Amino acid sequence: MKAKTTTSKVVALPPVRKAKRLSTEQKTLAIDIGGTGLKASVLDQEGEMLTERVRVETPLECPPALMVETLAKLVAPLVGYDRVSVGFPGVVRRGKIMTAHNLGQKQWKGFDLDLALTQKLGKPVRVLNDADIQGLGAISGRGVEMVITLGTGLGSSLAEDGRLSTHLELAHHPFRKGETYEEQLGNAALEEAGKKSWNRRVEHAIEALRILTNFDHLYIGGGNAKAIRFELPRDVSVVSNELGMRGGIWLWRERSPGSTDIFRRAELLA
Ligand code: BGC
Repeated sequence: MKAKTTTSKVVALPPVRKAKRLSTEQKTLAIDIGGTGLKASVLDQEGEMLTERVRVETPLECPPALMVETLAKLVAPLVGYDRVSVGFPGVVRRGKIMTAHNLGQKQWKGFDLDLALTQKLGKPVRVLNDADIQGLGAISGRGVEMVITLGTGLGSSLAEDGRLSTHLELAHHPFRKGETYEEQLGNAALEEAGKKSWNRRVEHAIEALRILTNFDHLYIGGGNAKAIRFELPRDVSVVSNELGMRGGIWLWRERSPGSTDIFRRAELLA
């Protein structure tokens, strides 16, 4: 068992190259749909935020139509972008939502968020799981890298040499004591079990994930990463939540997952 005294450090974001901005440079509106908050900002090609990050609370009951309206209002002041990246807290396949555990499964299943936002915002849209976007923002591109996000839900993403693997819903996979990873490590669990046992669970999870994936590095993001109170192993680090936004540019770059899924609508519009 590790010493329980130190607070883990947040790894600084890689320096952003201040390139001269060309007029041809594509600007990306990055949207992060969370269980508690909806966030957006416009990024340049290097992932630098060109506008303030805007945020509103996620409506308590948030069916697709209300989400699209709320997002359109949220991003209305953000202008000058050419394309849109969206991180969604569930399984996304070819732009359609397969699962949305924290937003209301029934109404969301099969909803074409990609199409709805493309029509609403009039720009090419790519939608991907939120943790996968965070993953694209966090990884170095070398070896097996895993990202977990500790927030309302538990997000996970796995990549090898910079390419995302098939999305695994670790959140709803059995973890321990008859409960899933999200039931043991999500925000409700942190509040219910308290920081001490939640921290013990995070330590267990790190070792379980090490056995499962043999990661070279594990990154921990999400709002509750700041509640980690034990010293992390050398191959595990906490990353800034900002990567959830900055990862949005990687959806439009070559390092993105090679899967045709996320490119469908953008190509139709091109
Ligand atoms: C969802 C995941 C998502 C995570 C973080 C979970 O409940 O099932 O798909 O990545 O929450 O938002």
